[in-house]
Amino acid sequence: MIIAIDGPAGSGKSTVAQLLAQRLGFLMLNTGAMYRAVGVTCLSQGVDLQDSAACSQIAQDLDLEVDRDGRLLSRGQVVDMDGLIGESQGAAASRVAKLPQVRTVLVKAQQRIGERWDLVTEGRDTTTVVFPRAEYKFFLTASLEERAKRRHGQVTSDLDLKRLAEEIERRDRQDSEREASPLSQAEDAHVIHTDGLTIEQVVDRLFAVIGPVSGAPDAFSEGLMPGGGQSGE
Ligand code: C5P
Repeated sequence: MIIAIDGPAGSGKSTVAQLLAQRLGFLMLNTGAMYRAVGVTCLSQGVDLQDSAACSQIAQDLDLEVDRDGRLLSRGQVVDMDGLIGESQGAAASRVAKLPQVRTVLVKAQQRIGERWDLVTEGRDTTTVVFPRAEYKFFLTASLEERAKRRHGQVTSDLDLKRLAEEIERRDRQDSEREASPLSQAEDAHVIHTDGLTIEQVVDRLFAVIGPVSGAPDAFSEGLMPGGGQSGE
């Protein structure tokens, strides 16, 4: 089964996907981390982020996979996520993500992973391009202000809140206006506005749509259904 979660930067996709995957016993696939890995590697090798052939060769060479614990692997080695989470790494990811050749390589890798595992996956095109036939699709939204606040708490960044909001807005614009798989909302996605909700409350809403999944640990007994009350973190 595939559960796909889309939404703009800072909408809480990764945290929600992680919790949901844990509770369902599914693998979590963070597709943004794959674009970040390509962007960061291109930068470290001095490759121009507009050079489609060179960047897609790097995407190919990285040979990205996940292990059964959902850790991102490159050529069989676990990728250090700490080196990928900052806003500048996100900006590099967003630039290589504009290149159709890079997207082709990564989308194929993501679809291969989806053939092997039950997945909760998140990322800008997961409900529309990568897994258009996902059993459940969600689109998380939040105001720019709320998203900047969340990112500010997440990343060790010397960007102040206002600069961070500007950076996120710029990345949203770049992701929405690009020609290749722009950020867009699938028609059949459940839209969840997350302003003012805790992560646990957002996860509760997703569970309310999905209901119990056979073979998964019981979401009701985990206390994650509405009225459950257990902290998910
Ligand atoms: O989700 P995250 O912030 O880690 O993604 C970093 C960048 O990677 C996004 O701004 C977007 O440009 C790109 N991306 C994408 N498609 C995905 C996931 C991420 O284009 N499925």
